Amino acid sequence: MKKASFTGSGLLLMSLIAGCATSEYGGPAETKAPFGGADSVAYAQTLWANLIERNLVGPAAVSAKPYQGTHPHGAILVMFEAPVEVQGHTGVAIIKNNYAGAAVSEKSVSNNPEQNLDAITVMFKRESGYDPENADWFWAKYQADGSLHTDPEGVALAGRVAKGKPQGCIACHKLAPGSDYVYNHDRFAN
Ligand code: HEC
Repeated sequence: MKKASFTGSGLLLMSLIAGCATSEYGGPAETKAPFGGADSVAYAQTLWANLIERNLVGPAAVSAKPYQGTHPHGAILVMFEAPVEVQGHTGVAIIKNNYAGAAVSEKSVSNNPEQNLDAITVMFKRESGYDPENADWFWAKYQADGSLHTDPEGVALAGRVAKGKPQGCIACHKLAPGSDYVYNHDRFAN
C-alpha cells in the first residue's frame, strides 16, 4: 500500500514537471494550445480591458473614416492602431471594427459607430518569442461587448489563431505583403 501511494505521487510530480517542460510558451501558466486556452482567453480579456481604458474600443472609442471591406472581414470597416500595454509589455495593437448587415454603409457607420458592429478583430504585437514563426502576433476576434467569437468547434478565437491550420487569421495574413502579416502597410516588415 505504502509503495503504491508513493508511486502515485511520484507520477503526479513527474507529470507536473513534464507539463511545465513541454509548455509551448512562457512556462507553467501557459497551456500548450496555440489558441483558445485559458491563458489566451485571460490575455485577450486583459487586452480588451486595456483597449477600453485607452478608448480604442467601447462606447467612448475614437472614430475614423469607414471604408469598404473585403471578405472575410465586414462589409464596412474602420481601422486604427496604437501602442497598448499588456502585462508589462507594450506593443502595437491594430484594431479593426467589422460592420455587417444589408443596411450598413460608410455613412451609417459614421453616424452610428456602435450599430451593426459585428466583430472587432485585433492583432497585438506580443513580446519576441511568443510566436516567432508568425511574427509574434496575438490574434483575437471579439463581439461588440468584448466577449470572444468562437470557431465551429467552440474554441475561443484568442491567441495564435489558427496556427498550423490551412485557414484562419494566421494562414491568411501570412500572405500579406512585406511578410509582417499586416495587409494595410509594411511598417513591421522584418
Ligand atoms: C481569408 C483571409 C483573412 C482571414 C481568415 C483573416 N483576415 Fe484579417 N485581413 C484580411 C485582409 C485581406 C485584410 C486587409 C483588408 C481589410 O482591411 O479588410 C485584413 C485586415 C486585418 C486587420 C487590419 C490590419 C491589416 O492586416 O491590414 C486586422 C487587425 C485583422 N485583419 C485581423 C484578423 C483576425 C484577428 C483574424 C482571425 C480572427 C483575421 N484577420 C482573419 C484577410 C483575412
